[in-house]
Amino acid sequence: MSFDLVIKGGTIASACATSKGDVAIKDGKIAAMGLGLEAPNTIDATGKLVLPGGIETHCHIAQESATGAMTADDYHTGSVSAAFGGNTTIVPFAAQHRGQTIPDALKIYDDRAAPNSVLDYSYHLIVTDPTDAAINEDLPAAFQRGITSFKVFMTYDKMIVSDEQFLDILVMARDNGGLTMVHAENNAMIKWMVRRLIERGYDAPKYHAVSHPAVSEVEAVQRGIALASFVEAPLLFVHISTDAGARAVAKARMAGHMIFGETCPQYMFLTAQDLDRPGAEGAKFCCSPPLRDRQTQTDMWRHLNAGSLQLYSSDHAPYRFDATGKLSAGENPPFNRIANGLPGIELRAPLLFSEGVQKGRITLEQFVALTATNAARLFGMGDRKGTIAVGYDADIAIWDPAMRRQVTAAALHDNMDYTPFEGWDITGWPVTVINQGRIIVDGGEMKATAGSGSFIPRKPFDATGFLPPRAPEMADTTNFGAKLF
Ligand code: URP
Ligand code: ZN
Ligand code: ZN
Repeated sequence: MSFDLVIKGGTIASACATSKGDVAIKDGKIAAMGLGLEAPNTIDATGKLVLPGGIETHCHIAQESATGAMTADDYHTGSVSAAFGGNTTIVPFAAQHRGQTIPDALKIYDDRAAPNSVLDYSYHLIVTDPTDAAINEDLPAAFQRGITSFKVFMTYDKMIVSDEQFLDILVMARDNGGLTMVHAENNAMIKWMVRRLIERGYDAPKYHAVSHPAVSEVEAVQRGIALASFVEAPLLFVHISTDAGARAVAKARMAGHMIFGETCPQYMFLTAQDLDRPGAEGAKFCCSPPLRDRQTQTDMWRHLNAGSLQLYSSDHAPYRFDATGKLSAGENPPFNRIANGLPGIELRAPLLFSEGVQKGRITLEQFVALTATNAARLFGMGDRKGTIAVGYDADIAIWDPAMRRQVTAAALHDNMDYTPFEGWDITGWPVTVINQGRIIVDGGEMKATAGSGSFIPRKPFDATGFLPPRAPEMADTTNFGAKLF
């Protein structure tokens, strides 16, 4: 067979093994792996790592927040920045706003993504208006189109779903092959804290962390687990920021429930002290759940290592440090009027590589699992993405493990005017990025044109291997014969 391209002599890693050899690509797919493979076009990967392209499944791109603020990145800048960070697939959110139908929301995001993305993409829906039509018709129709995951919120007045709505949503997703993702924080606790802090004049950015106490996440995670396990539905907790939240996820998994968890770089590399920078600088570090403490950082490494949390995502939510973003409520905004979210799509994988693999906290195989393989499997792409294997999409990031660079906002490729990781020394960067056989990034340059990425229809959630215990009231033997499932 003649190949289009051969990557020669690199160290090839998957989520379970590492070996040396060549990878041959033909028609956008991995066509062969072995030794001595040849093609007219070759890349010499001697001394480099040949890894599956990253799959970034938590990022906010060209998305209006509930308060109307637009993210700084569109699908071009967002995907370009992701590509320079070693990613080949992005799954941002398509947000339904209250009063809007799901098909209308999807049309808006199709129009934003298709002409602009340089990488393969899909979306998770955000559901804020769970009408009967949305739950029973529109979401199942979106799943049919291959958009098989969506996010709901247990907090924010404009987004929150009630526990009763949540149960309806979980059952519909379970029955139609969807994966529900949830932002778990207790709305009432946060509102109560915000009111008391503001009334007493504590309105600086640092009080954002105080207003979202750890227990508000833990309560919501435990409640979410109770709701999902009651109806035997899969549920993914995004941006877990507390040890107790991660432990609750781990415990539910050990009991056989289809519960999953994600954490993000900000909880592993930053702390609430960053919110206490001079003036309004702390606004740059406002995200929800908020940054925690040093102990949490250690806890998150442990949970990633132990497998209690399966996903590591950026939660890239880029709002500039100006009146279009963080400072939309003035030069010194009260903490409760600062757009929530941090940028980080380009640094997600390099930070994990430099702080994790290089410092011996995780193995290279774990790095691959956390940046690519686990996300591909959980989000219905495990049959074509997230690993380097014959027949899979040729989505590959070639990393130079010795390359050292200091992070500056100016050198990143997003549309932001700051990075929370300014000045960090990172060792190990992706140097060549290939998506479905197309060279996207090479030699520090973007090679792909806007709109060259493809929409990836995703498979239903795969419940293989889970045997969730049935709640007594749901079991035919103990509920006096009521047919509830
Ligand atoms: O503060 C954050 N994380 N903003 C992005 C939206 C979300 O809830 O993930
Ligand atoms: Zn969230
Ligand atoms: Zn988010």
